[in-house]
Amino acid sequence: MKPLILVTGGTGYIGSHTAVELIQDGFEVVIIDNLSNSRIEVLDGIEAITGVRPYYENFNLCDFKRLRQFCEKYHRLEAIIHFAALKAVGESVEKPLDYYHNNFESLINLLQIMGEYSLPNLVFSSSCTVYGQPDNLPVTEDSPIKKASSPYGNTKQVSEEIIQDAIVANNTIKAISLRYFNPIGAHPSAHIGELPLGIPLNLVPYLTQTVIGKRPELRVFGNDYETPDGTGIRDYIYVVDLARAHVIAIKRLLEGKNLKSYEVFNLGTGKGCSVLEIINAFEKATGEKVNYKFYPRRPGDIAAVYADTTLANRELGWKADTSLEQTLFTAWNWEKAIRHK
Ligand code: WQD
Repeated sequence: MKPLILVTGGTGYIGSHTAVELIQDGFEVVIIDNLSNSRIEVLDGIEAITGVRPYYENFNLCDFKRLRQFCEKYHRLEAIIHFAALKAVGESVEKPLDYYHNNFESLINLLQIMGEYSLPNLVFSSSCTVYGQPDNLPVTEDSPIKKASSPYGNTKQVSEEIIQDAIVANNTIKAISLRYFNPIGAHPSAHIGELPLGIPLNLVPYLTQTVIGKRPELRVFGNDYETPDGTGIRDYIYVVDLARAHVIAIKRLLEGKNLKSYEVFNLGTGKGCSVLEIINAFEKATGEKVNYKFYPRRPGDIAAVYADTTLANRELGWKADTSLEQTLFTAWNWEKAIRHK
């Protein structure tokens, strides 16, 4: 029988790509998602790619009774990947209590249920935001965790602490936190991708929407940073490469290869890339022209952050190896595929 993995937030952007990679690697997947920031049609996309429709349950993880019923039904669960969370930085400043309530309560419920049903394995979706603006680049997993710049970032920092405390109290639980840098792109099939609701905040969806004509111009926030071309530098990682890392993390837990009961890995490419480099790579990959203009810096942005991926490369035997141009090509194909949605 195939091992059954729970993917919370599995109809979301990274969750759906991970569900695909898990199924293609011989796992069974059950998704919990309340569709607060995703659409049910994503299940069709997963099925179109894999030929398998994952099991699906629609409820909020803050509902502990419902979660318990879920565990009764799916009693052969072997591991959990926890993506489900509120994730918009700006919104978290306006609605901090919603963020603390939702992101903490869902995680606490999961950890509690893991103890109750003897479910030992957790992969947690964390973020490079836990580092703030690091003093040294590239940023390693040992870099100091600075005060979070938003309630959202704070939920990721504290969630990692909650997991560690839970492990101290219950030594059957094992967890891996994966700190993502900037995930971009879509599945090469263009059946799934990022579906930003409303005006996108992130660079690549804004860029593809500009090129397709939904937005008049791409605003490049700041050209006076202390970077070679003056624009901000990030570590953009292909979402499918990122999804593959989750499958490896799950296998590491199931096969007991984890060295400690709690581990943390940076997931990035290890290469910093500026906004102008993204624009150039997009134009080269697609033959399309990007209409952009320089604007003042966006409040709260940092100049540069990119990952030291040595630990993930060595311990997970994983590397993000899809080129930036290939990645941006998938983002463009996805934008064209959702043109009429
Ligand atoms: C990238 C670069 C912008 C939009 C996000 C999340 C963060 C974390 C990682 C989850 C910056 C510039 C952007 C635009 C632009 N995710 N930009 N014009 O800010 O690095 O972080 O991903 O935990 O929480 O917020 O990503 O894509 O918004 O920006 O010039 O219209 O593109 O200034 O340099 P960011 P981003």
